[in-house]
Amino acid sequence: MRIPGPEPRTDGGVGAVTEAGGLHHYQLRLHAEYGPVVRFQLPGAETAVSVADPVLLEATAHIDKRPERLFEFLAPLCEAGNLQVIGADEHTPWRRVLLSVLAGRPSHERHFGRFTELATALADDWAARADGEPVELQKDLTALTLRMISEYALGGDGDLADPDRVIAAFEEVLTEYLGRLYQVPVPGTQDERARRAEEALAFLRATVDRVVAAHRSGGRADKSDLIGALIEAGESPARIRDTVMVTMLAAHHTTGVAVSWTLHLLARHPDAATRVADELDRVLGERAAPEYADLRRLTYLEMALKESMRLYPPGPYGARETTEPLVLGDYEIPAGATIFYPFWAVHLNPAYWPEPEKFVPERFTPEETAKRPRLAYIPFGLGPRSCEGAALAMVEAELVLAVLLKRFRFRPAPGRETVTPIERFVLWAADDIRMLVSDRHSA
Ligand code: HEM
Repeated sequence: MRIPGPEPRTDGGVGAVTEAGGLHHYQLRLHAEYGPVVRFQLPGAETAVSVADPVLLEATAHIDKRPERLFEFLAPLCEAGNLQVIGADEHTPWRRVLLSVLAGRPSHERHFGRFTELATALADDWAARADGEPVELQKDLTALTLRMISEYALGGDGDLADPDRVIAAFEEVLTEYLGRLYQVPVPGTQDERARRAEEALAFLRATVDRVVAAHRSGGRADKSDLIGALIEAGESPARIRDTVMVTMLAAHHTTGVAVSWTLHLLARHPDAATRVADELDRVLGERAAPEYADLRRLTYLEMALKESMRLYPPGPYGARETTEPLVLGDYEIPAGATIFYPFWAVHLNPAYWPEPEKFVPERFTPEETAKRPRLAYIPFGLGPRSCEGAALAMVEAELVLAVLLKRFRFRPAPGRETVTPIERFVLWAADDIRMLVSDRHSA
């Protein structure tokens, strides 16, 4: 059977994506119009098949290959081969090392104290502004999560002098290389942009080198930090540098926007915000921050975070390339095809999420979760290329939310009630999310 989808255009699909306002909105439009399996022109892949049905997705969950051209924009960040698309023979052992550090409870516990200090420092900074200037959630929270991941990669000895500059440099590089893929107009002449991207990349490489050198001079061979584990596993220096670079990128704005969107949604849903605050008071008592062991008692907070990543998945899509023919329901997909993962459309699929646009944390009680197919909720992707940082991200995000929501009440800054999601590699709020913070206990 022929897979439904829009008629091909001569521009290779770029126009349709631009008209929709980006791939994040285009996927919603495609699935609303053509159903759960759609064939469409994807810039960088010619034709792709997008699958928004969690049951059909199971048939793709084993695929261990990403389409190279689609992820070419990340190649400049790597010297020893683009980590997004390296073959399974190299990827599998590399993933195992990452998971041994990033997914491990002992290593989360070991870093928890330092994460708490960093989150508390941000809360102190915001407290100094309480009832004054609005805070810019994304800006401050991505800087916080960048600090957290840099220390994690370093094993806790590091000092990232200027996180804002690192974030800006990642932006510069991604905007330029993503812009080349989608032919998006970017300010400046081609030469100017290329030069700016080169400078940003050189700055990032120097930052990574400092991180690695600081680790070496600390003489650590500790498997609870990423660099230590990679050295121990015998990875090459270039691959270690690439891993630090890619992890810094993959970890910071995803986790930063996950926390920002959760605060945004809670500020608009006072009943849910009250339940979170009550739970924090009950579990923490007079304490300003949780211990690691408290996290599993913050069940409603976790449900609110999950619901926020359903409505605003920080990474809104992914992709795979079939290595053999595949049967997807009524359709046959040949080998070498691009499978597009529309995470956002999966999360808004009305067949599994009644009134999908509504913020309802109760969807994530164990009973409700058990009623849904496994892949109905996939903010961290699926299969052998899914996010290695998922467990760490949940620990960081829950800790930061607990520290902030124990202490503050959040209100949208006047005139800033409307927030528009845009795609900037992650699902980002255009012009940030600005809020007024006030002390919960003096209110
Ligand atoms: C809320 C925070 C985060 C979200 C929503 C998120 C989401 C994702 C998604 C959707 C993917 C692509 C998965 C796929 O293709 O199936 C991914 C990949 C990845 N993420 Fe995350 N991520 C987050 C935080 C982190 C953190 C904290 C780290 C590291 C410490 C990290 C490291 C990575 C890496 C290394 C990959 C590449 C996976 C591979 O190719 O093997 N992420 N992430």
